[in-house]
Amino acid sequence: MATFPFSSALVTGASSGIGEAMVELLAGTGIHTVVVARRSDRLDELAARFAADVEVLVADLTTSKGLAKVVARVADPDRPIDLVVNNAGFGTSGVFHELDADRLQGEIDLNIAALTRLSHAALAAMVPRGRGYLLNVSSVASFQPAPKLAVYAATKAYVTSLTESLHEEARGTGVHVTALCPGLTRTEFQSVSNTEGYSTQYPGFAWLTSQEVAVGGLRDVAKGKALSVPGALYKGMVGAVGVTPRGVARRLAGLVQRG
Ligand SMILES: NC(=O)c1ccc[n+]([C@@H]2O[C@H](COP(=O)([O-])OP(=O)(O)OC[C@H]3O[C@@H](n4cnc5c(N)ncnc54)[C@H](OP(=O)(O)O)[C@@H]3O)[C@@H](O)[C@H]2O)c1
Repeated sequence: MATFPFSSALVTGASSGIGEAMVELLAGTGIHTVVVARRSDRLDELAARFAADVEVLVADLTTSKGLAKVVARVADPDRPIDLVVNNAGFGTSGVFHELDADRLQGEIDLNIAALTRLSHAALAAMVPRGRGYLLNVSSVASFQPAPKLAVYAATKAYVTSLTESLHEEARGTGVHVTALCPGLTRTEFQSVSNTEGYSTQYPGFAWLTSQEVAVGGLRDVAKGKALSVPGALYKGMVGAVGVTPRGVARRLAGLVQRG
């Protein structure tokens, strides 16, 4: 079993997928973990697996009340959190102008606004303590445009950019800031984002498990890396995008979406 340098953690989006896998690793090694999501039954069931080590915080991060509750927990000086994982997020597949505008706004509210507010609360608490870890879950989709997942890729480009900037700002403070950029990972993301077709479109070797992603992200934030890209395939892909002319990468992304 892995050992981590955190004594307490808070994970948003803990009720399924990558967030749940992170909680299993953290609480499984005895780290006090605050779990955040909207589905209280899922969180209660998760907490029951680890008895005293899991604290349930039910919140919708797209509401000001829900977000304020989680910000207050992160900022609480009497119960400091060592590791904050901004993992909650979702996507919406389809042609931009045909999608529901309110849903896209909710995506921006969660993937960008809530993540920014919680990153601010985390660093405002951690930097004066001279210690802490912030792990923001982005995506390999943050490195190039993604037609038919346009808003999602744009929100994740924001997350990677913000997180890399914060990584540099925090250099030398004792606080580590990392962007976790997974590729295709089998979770509820596919049903929520209406990308279930990806299961047949992409070969088995392209898929990561949420456990692989969770292990990679927690290991890399503990090491103080700026970027964490789990899996050799996606490490190679991100490297290739970095040396591909922007117009070529954009055109290829469009062709992939046309199938
Ligand atoms: N799966 C992939 O292929 C993939 C690839 C790259 C990056 N990612 C990123 O990985 C992160 C985790 O996604 P996942 O794949 O594990 O998907 P998932 O299984 O759908 O999990 C998403 C989590 O976010 C929570 N959530 C959604 N809306 C929320 C809200 N308004 N307030 C609070 N919590 C909310 C969900 O809980 P409730 O519904 O209970 O609130 C759930 O726990 C996301 O940021 C996603 O963009 C996923």
